[in-house]
Amino acid sequence: MRILLLTHSFNSLTQRLYAELAGDGHELSVEFDIADSVAEEAVAAFRPDVVLAPFLKRAVPESIWARRLTLIVHPGIVGDRGPSALDWAITDGASDWGVTVLQAEAEMDAGPVWASERFAMRAATKASLYRTEVTAAALVAVRRALERVPAWRRGEWAPTPLAALLQRPGSFGPPGCLRPLMKQVDRAIDWRRDDTAAVLRRIRAADGFPGVADMLFGEPCHLFDAHAGRRPAGAEDAAPGEVLARRDGALLRATVDGALWIGHVKRGGTHPFKLPATQAFAAEAARLPEWPVTLMRGRGQGKADECDESGACDEWGELAYRESDDAAVGFLSFDFYNGAMSTAQCERLSAAIGFARSRPTRVLVLEGGRDFWSNGIHLNTIEAAPSPADESWANINAMNDVCLALLTLTDRITVAALAGNAGAGGCFLALAADHVWAASGVILNPHYKNMGNLYGSEYWSYLLPRRVGVDAGRRIMGNRLPLLARQAAAAGLIDEAFGADPAGFAAEVARRAAALAAAPDLAACIAAKAARRAADEAEKPLAAYRAEELARMQRNFYGFDPSYHVARFHFVLKSPHSWTPRHLARHRDLDWNRPRVAAPETRVETA
Ligand code: COA
Repeated sequence: MRILLLTHSFNSLTQRLYAELAGDGHELSVEFDIADSVAEEAVAAFRPDVVLAPFLKRAVPESIWARRLTLIVHPGIVGDRGPSALDWAITDGASDWGVTVLQAEAEMDAGPVWASERFAMRAATKASLYRTEVTAAALVAVRRALERVPAWRRGEWAPTPLAALLQRPGSFGPPGCLRPLMKQVDRAIDWRRDDTAAVLRRIRAADGFPGVADMLFGEPCHLFDAHAGRRPAGAEDAAPGEVLARRDGALLRATVDGALWIGHVKRGGTHPFKLPATQAFAAEAARLPEWPVTLMRGRGQGKADECDESGACDEWGELAYRESDDAAVGFLSFDFYNGAMSTAQCERLSAAIGFARSRPTRVLVLEGGRDFWSNGIHLNTIEAAPSPADESWANINAMNDVCLALLTLTDRITVAALAGNAGAGGCFLALAADHVWAASGVILNPHYKNMGNLYGSEYWSYLLPRRVGVDAGRRIMGNRLPLLARQAAAAGLIDEAFGADPAGFAAEVARRAAALAAAPDLAACIAAKAARRAADEAEKPLAAYRAEELARMQRNFYGFDPSYHVARFHFVLKSPHSWTPRHLARHRDLDWNRPRVAAPETRVETA
């Protein structure tokens, strides 16, 4: 089928649907929902069988849904309506939730139901649930809905009107209802009453957007990225709401029954975007005690952020290291908010790799974070710096140092295990490991060009051709589209994609890493790796690749073409789109529907 994705932005859910549905053989194009007339124009040009709306902030115009089958993906259970579906589900403590695919009609989210899918809720942020459970359920429900289209066209199947479904809820579980937009008054924290679990729930329900409006150091701000914590010795009597310490860019705040870490805040003024809390309140944070945490710690030997709703948890920190029972495999997790890696975070990660290097393991697994493995340099901290060009330079160098630490770890096998998505420099950082494994649902964006034609570094000019060859490497860098993990594996960009869910992926990673460590030819593998690195170094030193890439990056940062700075500004400030990029809006290419003739060199000859 020809499917037009009409969407507010090319967000993670839209990227996944795009890549999966294209893989199913559908013909796809994308139009951002900028104005009715633009969407109408796209429909007229593409003549889709289905308009699919995975992420909209307003209603589809009647001029479209009255003429073309238009399916809306709603991140809520059957009967749920309104713009704050997940926010209410988290706030209400729902034990399970779902996704519904409805046909667009005049009343928003009230059209007949084509398909729905439920999932168990997890104690996590709205954005994390959206990227994982909602995305997986949406894919199932959308595929089911699309399968029904031919029968619907033949008049052999009809979607069920919402009212009819609500009368017999047994078929899909307890139904939802119309809920209003969740306002800040619904989200407000009462620090004198709300316990840690309640505050966590409020912040998670508003994370990544819009955050919870609150006060810190007497200044208004929005809170994000909260993790249960505990009070340090001597702070037993601190009043709820009081700020006690800092760690990894986060501020520790007392609650009625303990404390929690606030990792990111958004203040108004000159930097109206999310920043690490200690950067947004730099002067105030500098007066607080730094409360470091050891890398190897706690229950489960420090798997980051295993705090549960009751507040019982391992000590939170962005980085955590643990080892398998036989100490053969080390696991380093770096759960950086949104996968963005600032200069300071890169430096901490390099130090952590240094620590891992000092351990007598044979395999080191780099786990990244749960939602993102890495998205490269931290564009928000760069935007907030006095000189964004200087900070970009410092950040990319710190990022390159992380890559270098991995590339020169030649006394053991390294594995990048991507449980979450990776983009731009984060993708190439993963390629610095010997093995790159990704969970099946992971999306990779192995290109830099979308950020103002950034050239990119992270030793990609060494790593990419080494894996896929020069020509394929060039194609991958020029292709601005997301890749599914299995497509990346087929292209040789990564080694393998497996695991149906995050727990399954983690278990399989542990199993495979243990097998690598126990392999009879392990010593030979490590020796071969070291020999290859030495040979590569003799042919062309890593420093030369780095210098060449950085020479181009220097032009991006300091040259007279400001494209990177402009693109970063709009990305960080979330400026509304004014057009759909050409590589997504295929229907805007003049020859988009001309039959393609295979080039002679790619034509397959048959006997
Ligand atoms: N720096 C700072 N913030 C970043 C970031 C980065 N490098 N990459 C992603 N984010 C933030 C986004 O601003 C967004 O913030 P929000 O929580 O306020 O909404 C959040 O992470 C999720 O990103 P989003 O774009 O919604 O995720 P996605 O899965 O839809 O898209 C990418 C993933 C990687 C395609 C996209 O985030 C991107 O292009 N990031 C920039 C990558 C880059 O150019 N890095 C610098 C060059 S190395």
